Amino acid sequence: MDKLIRIDNLHKSFYDGESELKVLKGVNLDVHKSEILAIMGASGVGKSTLLHIIGTLDRPSDGSIFYEDQDITKFSENELTHFRNDAIGFVFQFHQMLPEFTALENVVMSRLIKNSKRGSSVDAKSSDSNDFYETAEKLLDSVGLSDRLNHYPSQLSGGERQRVAIARALMNNPKVVLADEPTGNIDDKTSDAVLDVLWDVNERLNQTFIIVTHDSRISERAKRTVQLIDGKIAE
Ligand SMILES: Nc1ncnc2c1ncn2[C@@H]1O[C@H](COP(=O)(O)OP(=O)(O)OP(=O)(O)O)[C@@H](O)[C@H]1O
Ligand SMILES: [Mg+2]
Repeated sequence: MDKLIRIDNLHKSFYDGESELKVLKGVNLDVHKSEILAIMGASGVGKSTLLHIIGTLDRPSDGSIFYEDQDITKFSENELTHFRNDAIGFVFQFHQMLPEFTALENVVMSRLIKNSKRGSSVDAKSSDSNDFYETAEKLLDSVGLSDRLNHYPSQLSGGERQRVAIARALMNNPKVVLADEPTGNIDDKTSDAVLDVLWDVNERLNQTFIIVTHDSRISERAKRTVQLIDGKIAE
């Protein structure tokens, strides 16, 4: 199987005054193209920390992360920002929707921002942005929200917001989507609908997902589950 990500001897410690908290103690992990990989483990073991580092939101204390052949731990902040916008989609709880924009606008936004960072201005009337709106509508349609395009976040349910977050994560056609507890705050029935969307996207688009979760239904459906135990990965 083609490798998308190789994590090599990753360490992460947090320092709090005198004391060092060693969270990741030599994580080795390969992520294959088009797979759904579930990462499980006890609360506080370092799952979110690992996902943040894979997502370039934080840096490791030691070790390497290769995306295909590029070691992103060697990237500058600027290179990381570009890489993150291009290559990574996030479904994170802290990655909230912008309350003053509709579902459709929230999904389009990440693409407009990506373009403006490349030097072209954000022009909501350009033909590019028409294409973006079309893509965003299709994505919202594919997560079952075609009749919620113009709803504001406060007018959406938790599960609907989570599906907007998935559509938004897919907007930039990322190499990988990272999801931290995507079913964390929603009931079982809604969770099943959100998971159906993730699996459908994986099958239709060959989208690679890494999902951090406590939810055994995710690990049961995932093609591969690994456990984070005492700072290391056990398959
Ligand atoms: N920025 C930080 N500074 C100091 N300590 C941190 C920081 N971020 C995380 N930690 C600590 O690192 C450990 C791992 O945290 P992390 O959030 O990765 O756990 P988790 O496995 O995602 O837990 P949960 O399942 O509860 O979400 C915890 O003990 C946490 O307190
Ligand atoms: Mg966590």
